[in-house]
Amino acid sequence: MIVTVINQKGGVGKTTTAVNLAYVLSKQKNVGLLDMDPEGGTSFSFGIRRDKKEYGIGDKSVNIFNIEVFPAHLGLLKLELGGEVEDVVKSVKSVAENFDVLVIDTPPNLGTLAVASMISADKVVSPVTPQPLAIEAVRNLDSRLQSLEKKAIAFASMSKRPLELDLKAVKFVQLSIPPSKLFSESSRLGVPASRYEEIKLKRPRVGRLYEELAKVALSE
Ligand SMILES: Nc1ncnc2c1ncn2[C@@H]1O[C@H](COP(=O)(O)OP(=O)(O)OP(=O)(O)O)[C@@H](O)[C@H]1O
Ligand SMILES: [Mg+2]
Repeated sequence: MIVTVINQKGGVGKTTTAVNLAYVLSKQKNVGLLDMDPEGGTSFSFGIRRDKKEYGIGDKSVNIFNIEVFPAHLGLLKLELGGEVEDVVKSVKSVAENFDVLVIDTPPNLGTLAVASMISADKVVSPVTPQPLAIEAVRNLDSRLQSLEKKAIAFASMSKRPLELDLKAVKFVQLSIPPSKLFSESSRLGVPASRYEEIKLKRPRVGRLYEELAKVALSE
């Protein structure tokens, strides 16, 4: 199964969502995490520098916390600029064959890599921050999903309250990930927040929310 995390607005929590979903899912499933952002947000979250070499999609991976992470590399930029969507979809689907779940992090645009990741997806998850531009972005995403005949779930990211928005292809679930310092602290250490709190806090909170998100995302 392929779970693609998407929102063309930058900085809304896509990478954070992908990394933490992969972490909670990896406790029970064989999980891959594919960084499709040439900027390498997911790779950076695990302390991996963007590779200056060029690989094919899925050619290079490293196992961290029981997640098979496919870091960003120079080949992504070439595909973003000159690749064919259908070819990328084929590559992504063949990577997914090796896993129960392949989680994909996407760049903040609707270019070749994001669209191919969306087409490949069995489930699409969109974090949305409670700001006018992020809400506008999810409206546009809704139109795009409709034209591709796909559905997505969305949730409130960096917000104390869930969001409600009536869209056609995007369904808002009543879940919010509140703002927390835990995210910047953990990302500095190259650890998913839901892993970091297991060690640091007596009563973990964030992991439970991502578990809930994983449950709805996989079942919707
Ligand atoms: N719930 C949260 N509370 C506080 N900070 C958060 C939360 N979620 C994410 N962040 C922080 O917000 C920043 C942006 O998050 P993230 O990188 O996940 O967004 P993104 O959508 O992947 O961005 P980009 O579009 O640039 O790839 C990061 O520094 C991250 O640590
Ligand atoms: Mg990112």
